[in-house]
Parts: sequence; structure tokens; C-alpha cells
Amino acid sequence: MKRTIELLKENNLLRVIDDEVDIDLEMAHIAYVEVKQEDSRALLFTHPVSKKLNKKFDMPVLMNVFGSYEATRLIFEKEPDEIAQTIEKLLHMKPPSGFMGKLEMLKELFELKNIFTKRVNSKAPCQEVVKEEINLFDLPILKTWSGDGGAFITMGQVYTQSLDGEKQNLGMYRLQVYDKNRLGMHWQIHKDGAHFFKEYKEAGKKMPVSIAIGGDPLYIWCGQAPMPNGMFELLLYGLIKEKNAILVKSKTNPIYVPTDSDIVIEGWVDPSCEEIERPFGDHTGYYTLKEPYPVMDVTCITTKKKPIYQATVVGKPPLEDKYMGWATERIFLPLLKTTTPDLIDYRMPENGVFHNLILAKMKSCYPGHAKQFMHAFWGVGQMSFVKHAFFVNEDAPELENYEDISDYICDRVSVENILISEGVCDALDHASPNACYGGKLGVDCTHDNVRYPKKNILEDKELFAKLSSKVSEIKSLHHYKTHTKTPICVIGIKKERPIKEIYEELKEFKDNLKLLVFVDFDKNDVHNPYMLVWRVVNNIDAKRDIFLETEYIGIDATNKSEKDGYEREWPEDTDCDKTVLEDLIKRKLIKNNKELLKNYYV
Ligand SMILES: Cc1cc2nc3c(=O)[nH]c(=O)nc-3n(C[C@H](O)[C@H](O)[C@H](O)COP(=O)(O)O)c2cc1C
Repeated sequence: MKRTIELLKENNLLRVIDDEVDIDLEMAHIAYVEVKQEDSRALLFTHPVSKKLNKKFDMPVLMNVFGSYEATRLIFEKEPDEIAQTIEKLLHMKPPSGFMGKLEMLKELFELKNIFTKRVNSKAPCQEVVKEEINLFDLPILKTWSGDGGAFITMGQVYTQSLDGEKQNLGMYRLQVYDKNRLGMHWQIHKDGAHFFKEYKEAGKKMPVSIAIGGDPLYIWCGQAPMPNGMFELLLYGLIKEKNAILVKSKTNPIYVPTDSDIVIEGWVDPSCEEIERPFGDHTGYYTLKEPYPVMDVTCITTKKKPIYQATVVGKPPLEDKYMGWATERIFLPLLKTTTPDLIDYRMPENGVFHNLILAKMKSCYPGHAKQFMHAFWGVGQMSFVKHAFFVNEDAPELENYEDISDYICDRVSVENILISEGVCDALDHASPNACYGGKLGVDCTHDNVRYPKKNILEDKELFAKLSSKVSEIKSLHHYKTHTKTPICVIGIKKERPIKEIYEELKEFKDNLKLLVFVDFDKNDVHNPYMLVWRVVNNIDAKRDIFLETEYIGIDATNKSEKDGYEREWPEDTDCDKTVLEDLIKRKLIKNNKELLKNYYV
């Protein structure tokens, strides 16, 4: 951790804040705005305080450590693409031919010895201090959003093992502080931590868990990496760093944790007791819906002599997870190709919050090939959470060239090329009618078979006058991609009735419209495509909210309620507390960049 901080400093990627900053909202708000800036840096808060608890902490807080591409490369010590190449090579290892070939392979195999973790019995830095009293409130654990139900550990590495002790797992899950010695375990139902928990529950046994904070930041990335079930994520650490992760046994349970962790919280989870987790502003940019989660009883807290607490803030993009997600996307490409061999590349844009949107480039070889890929994606590990997938052919522009790729897609959208299905959803998805299960959209843009006559495209002003004279709830409008075969008309609406009715009423203007996207007027800027993508892919369930007719498609991306047949509790957006924000601007801890604050709906 200290080396990382030095490295960030040397590369001008660290901002040290010596002012007293409150762990209650202030720190998270500063980090939230910082990482949205072009020249975003990691933040080291040297004087964390809690006004509410009347406390000053002697433990600094590090945030946004993955806050840029440059910082992420520094942590990996190499390009993510380089790591992908190593994995690709391993996956395609062939029997060596000739003496030199054998020698070369021996060298490669020898290097693989670094991937396995090593266990030591000696005194580890993470156990230099054993806290006499267990009190989680002695740690500078942040409350990130005003609607949060309290403080949450947001960069905890959660180490668990299977009931028989054979398999180990590292997952990054947020953990709510219930009181001074109890933590909520937010491992979602599909995750490995939850799978192990089920084993303990069925056996009626308490489950050991240790949470490490700090140490090499790469552990954190490994914790969020979608490794196949049963594979310990620290193997990736060894592969990337070309050295073994060194682990030591926790003091009060059998779980092994990295010796260089700054803080270790040990404990046991009683499977017979679950509690409703209080609200938390999540990486979707919405608060999480209430669900019960297991609780850990803390049995010991150990630290380094001078530990540093690490935290992140999740919410509306772009945030630190953008850069972690970028590395994951690059490194996992070769693994994804093992089930979809003609896949060329893919992107999960951060404003699609990863699981809500994927763009994939493939070499389409036969009819239905893209649809085959859709089913494959929806059936593979955490890729199965993806709600909306667009497949383009090998002649498409670069996937990260969002303007050109969206033109390409718009020229290939037709009802025939759309597949609406259903399946597993991320536990955080709020739009689906049921928790963890809902609609999926796949669009096959691999062939250019869209030959509809061009629409009669009007200027925004004229179109707005025409449509709003028919439907008075229409308050704003912008027509995108009018040079393509599928212009996208985004309509801001003051919703008073189901959108389907409005879609039907606007059908008489079919000559001027092809794809209509409805959003709530008061929550969205129709001229802000980055945030519109975020909103639309978050807010729709493909089965319920997409209306398909030849040459006339509607998407209802408004918030839903019982009137729309939605029976769950629609969550609020994560918005900064205006008073806290203004105060931080006054104290010059946040730059008063009005445009940036507006553009990202801060
Ligand atoms: C910043 C951040 C926070 C996350 N929080 C959670 C969480 O609270 N619960 C969860 O199940 N997954 C969370 N994830 C995703 C998991 O870390 C990820 O799915 C990981 O692959 C799970 O590992 P597992 O399958 O070994 O359990 C988070 C990811 C990131 C980047």
C-alpha cells in the first residue's frame, strides 16, 4: 500500500488532502467529483474525522486508487492487454516440438509456479497490532450517500472457504456496519461467497469469514474479477504480478489473508440469522432495494502498525469502477472467446454500468450466428447478467469509437434483427419485474438487411410542436442519429399515464419517427447522451418496456409504478447532498465546475 502511494505520488496521480474531512458524506462526495474529472487523481485524506461520533482518526483514508487508466496500469505493472495475451497463450498451449520447444515450454511452466498462493506461519505485518477492543467505529468507515442506512465498508476483500476447506474465494462485497462488532455480508445470490454460505447453512454450521482492507490494491481488482466458480482469485494475482500472494492464517478462524493487508476483520457468520440490509447507493446510480443478507459477528481486528484504510464510492458513472471494469474486460476477452470462438472484441461501457450494456464484435459465419452468441453470453458466468447486447460484424468501426459504432448499429436495427428473451439479471437490477430475473434484449447488427424508406425527418422544434400538440405531456425532445436508418427520438415526458398509450397515439406521425425513447422530463436532459444511455439501460425491462412494430419502435425508460404493472419498490437516484456539496466547494475541496456537475447529474 505504501509503495502504491509512493508510485502514485511520483506519477502525479495522488492528491493529498490534509484538511479535516468528515467520513460522513464529505469524503465520498469529494472522491465522487474527483474521479469524474479528466485529470482525476487518487485521494489520500490524512485527517479523517467524524462529527457525528465526535472522533478524529489517526488512520488515513485512500480513495480512487484505480481513478484513471494510468493509475490502473501502475497497479497492474503492465497493460491489461499484455495479461490477456499471457492467458491466451496458456489456453492454447501446444505440445512442444524439438528440444528448444521443450525448453521454452519448461520455462513457461516454471513461471506458472508463481500463480499459487503461499502460506506462512511467521508474524505478518497485517497482525502487528491486535485490537484489544473490537469496535468497528474506531475505523474511518464511510457513509457515502445521504440515503444510506449507515456506514459501509466499500473496498473490503472478503475471504471465504468452502465447507470442506478445499476451495477458497476472494470476493469484493460491500459490508454494512450494523454495530461495533456486526457486519452485513452483501454477497449477492449468484456469487461464490453466497454459494459457500449455502453449504454452511445446509450443514447448520457457522461460516468463517475474514475481511482484508488495503495491502496491494491488485487484491481488490482480483476480488471483483469474474473468475469461474471454484477458482481462487489470488491465482490471478500471481499470474499478473509474477509472484505468489503470501497469506497468513487469521487469528480466530481458519481463513488465510494476504500478509500485507492493512486491516483484517475476522469473524463468523451464523447462517441461521439474516437481517434486512439498510439502503445503499449502488454502482447503478440508484439505491439498492431492501433484501435480507447474512451477518458476521466480528471476533478479532488486526492491523499493521500504521494502517491505511481504503474506500471507494459507487454511484452514477463515471467512477473508479470504470477503470477496474476496463481492466476486467480486456483480461477476460480470451476466456470469453473459449465459448464464443468467433468473437473479435467486446466493450462494456461504464455508463451501461457493465451488466446493462455490451457491444460485441464478431466474425459472423452463418445465419443465426449472432443469436447463438446472445444465448452463449446469457449462459456464461457473470456475463449472463447482461441485459442489452449488440452484436456487430467484423467490418464495424472500433467498438470504443462510440459515435461511429452507434451509426453502424442504427443502420442495422430492425424488428427482425431483435431478440427479446428473459433470464438471469444482476441482483441490483431494479427494472425487472422480479428480483434477479427479467427481460433481455439482443440486437443482431451483423448484416445490413435494413432497407426501409428513409423517414421524413423534421427539425427538433418543428417535431416538438407537432408531437406536443397531440400529447401535452411531452416537454422536451431531441432527435439523434437522423442521418442513419434508425433516428432515435428522445422524448422528455411528464408522465401521468402508461407510456404505451402515448406510443400508440404518436403512431400517426410514423413517417417522422422510427425509434422513440421516453424518459422522465424532470430527471433527464434529452441533450445529454452519456447520461441518457445510463438511464435507459438501467430503467428498462426488455420484455415489458420495448414496443415493437415494423418501422416504429418504442422504449419506455421512465420510472415505473403500480400503474405500469410494476410491483416492486422503484429506487431513488443517488444524488449528492446539496448542502454538503456547496460547503465542500466553499472550502475549496471540490472545484466549482458547474458544467461537470451538470453533465454527470451530480
Ligand atoms: C466497487 C465494487 C463493489 C461491488 N460490490 C459488490 C457487492 O456488494 N456484492 C456483490 O455480490 N458483488 C459486488 N461487486 C461485484 C463482485 O465483486 C464481483 O461480481 C465478483 O466477481 C464476485 O466474486 P465471486 O463470484 O467470487 O463472489 C462489486 C464490484 C465492484 C467493482
